[in-house]
Order: sequence, then structure tokens, then C-alpha cells
Amino acid sequence: MNTANTLSTGAPALDCEIVRTRSGAPAVRDRLTGELMHPVVGPLVEAEQLYVTPSRLEARLRAHAPTPLVLLDVGLGAGSNAIRAWQLSERLSASDRLLEILSFDRSLAALELALAPEHCAAFGFVDAAGVAGRALSTHGRHSTARTEWRLHEGDLFTKLAQLPESSADVVFWDPFSPRKNAELWTVAAFSALFRVCRPGATVHTYSGATSVRSALLLAGFAVGVGHEVGELKENTGAAVNVEDLAQPLDLRWLARLERSSCPFPADAPSDALTRIAALTQFRSGAGRA
Ligand SMILES: C[S@@+](CC[C@H](N)C(=O)[O-])C[C@H]1O[C@@H](n2cnc3c(N)ncnc32)[C@H](O)[C@@H]1O
Repeated sequence: MNTANTLSTGAPALDCEIVRTRSGAPAVRDRLTGELMHPVVGPLVEAEQLYVTPSRLEARLRAHAPTPLVLLDVGLGAGSNAIRAWQLSERLSASDRLLEILSFDRSLAALELALAPEHCAAFGFVDAAGVAGRALSTHGRHSTARTEWRLHEGDLFTKLAQLPESSADVVFWDPFSPRKNAELWTVAAFSALFRVCRPGATVHTYSGATSVRSALLLAGFAVGVGHEVGELKENTGAAVNVEDLAQPLDLRWLARLERSSCPFPADAPSDALTRIAALTQFRSGAGRA
């Protein structure tokens, strides 16, 4: 597959190297943004703790359904989140629900580095997973009897707009941080995502920032506190239906929002606070701060 790996300006989208996290795990660092992919406990553990476990992916795949579960993997990066989901699906039985992974990124540079012979074991790309990762990188897709994995290479906004509405069940939202990837943490980005999520869909992301939660709420999602995970900072879960959240944000969070020094993303409407306060999840009295 011909990969441009560049921005519309012609500049490279990523410039990757392997470094060690605080815990000693190897991780990919992008020299252009200075950002580390899975910066704390490393890619394999973090993919499990922040995405695969909170999304209840195993239970959702074991609940039989006639159509595949559709997982949006935003961005693909070194493929750590996607390959954990892929491995989980491959361990299940033929009668369990099939999994379709759609991975989004504008560069394959991080995946290619993770697939290199000297790094692939540390990034989970051995045996069948290595075959799958290499096929995705080379051909843009890989299929088994249980798992279909497809690459959507290019700018996320363009690629999301090409998906049918109400077609996704689970979203791993893992761009760079709001400081370096601001456009992907806006009301516009989450509105584009909301359009493609069907009832029952859940979104999982590492950021617990107030402005990120506001952006998700303003885009139409119900929003909650993510799973508590060891030394990782507070993260966020969002859902089309509030009933699918373990810990919806409540009135105490709303009070914190009113006091926050950075409450909203740049594209929030001027009446953002009024709109958020009027949302059902803050009128039910359920949830926690
Ligand atoms: C933190 S990394 C993803 C790590 C990845 N989830 C993993 O498991 O290794 C963020 C990724 O988002 C991609 N990205 C940033 N902005 C993007 C955009 N506008 N469209 C598509 N991909 C984007 C970057 O190229 C980068 O690979």
C-alpha cells in the first residue's frame, strides 16, 4: 500500500523513535510533537487498562449478535490498542460476536517502527498478531474468521465523514494530547464522532480534562469518569446512552466546571454552560463528580 505519511503541507505527520517510559517499558515517541504513545506503563498494559477493559469488549463480544461489533481505533499510532482488541477477539470462540476494527491515522510511521524485527515483540506483534500488523501496514487490511481489521489512512475528519451514520459500537479515542492535537478534542470532532455512533456505543479516552468532557457533552454524548487505573490520571468514558456509563458526571462536576479556569474547547458556543447544565444527565441526580 502506498502511504504518504505526510500532512497537506507536505511535512511529515510523524517522526518516530523508541524510548523507555518511567516504568521501563518501550514506547514510541514522536519527535515532532514531543509526545509519547502510552507514556506511563507502556503500550501493552495501557491499551488494556484504558481501552480494552473499560470498554467491556470481551463481554460485548461474548454476547451473541448477528452483526459484527464495530470498533473505531483513533489513531492507530503503533497499533497497541488495536492489536490488544484483535488478540482478544482471536481468543474467543467461533460462535462469539465477530469484531471489525477500523483504524484511523494519517501516518503509518509509528506502526512500521513497532513492527521492526527488533521492536515487534515488545509491541505485541509476534506470530499471528505480527502477520496481522504487517498485512495492515502493507495492504491496509487483514481478515480472519473472527476479526476484520481495516486501515482508514488520512485525516480523521475526512475519514469519519465517509462512514455511515450510526455504524460504530466502541471507540478508542487516542490522539495526541489536547495541547498538541487540539482539533481532535473539539466539539466539531466529537460531533463528527457522535454521528457515526449507534445507540449503545461507548467512547473511551485517556484524557480527564474538563474541556474534553465539555466538548463530548456539547457534541451529544453522556459523559462519565473512566475506570480508575493505578498511576494513570483520571480518564473519561462517554456513551450515546447515559445508562451505559458506570459513573456519569453529576452536579458536583458541574459545580467544578463553573469554577474551572479552562472549562471549554475553543469551538464551544457562547452559551456552553447553560447547554451543559440543561442536559438530562445533570437533571437525574445520578452519578459522581
Ligand atoms: C497517541 S498516538 C496513538 C497511539 C495508538 N493508539 C497506539 O495504540 O499506539 C496519536 C496518533 O494520532 C494520529 N493523528 C493525529 N492527528 C490526526 C488526524 N488529524 N487524523 C488522523 N490521525 C491523526 C497521529 O498520527 C498518531 O499516530
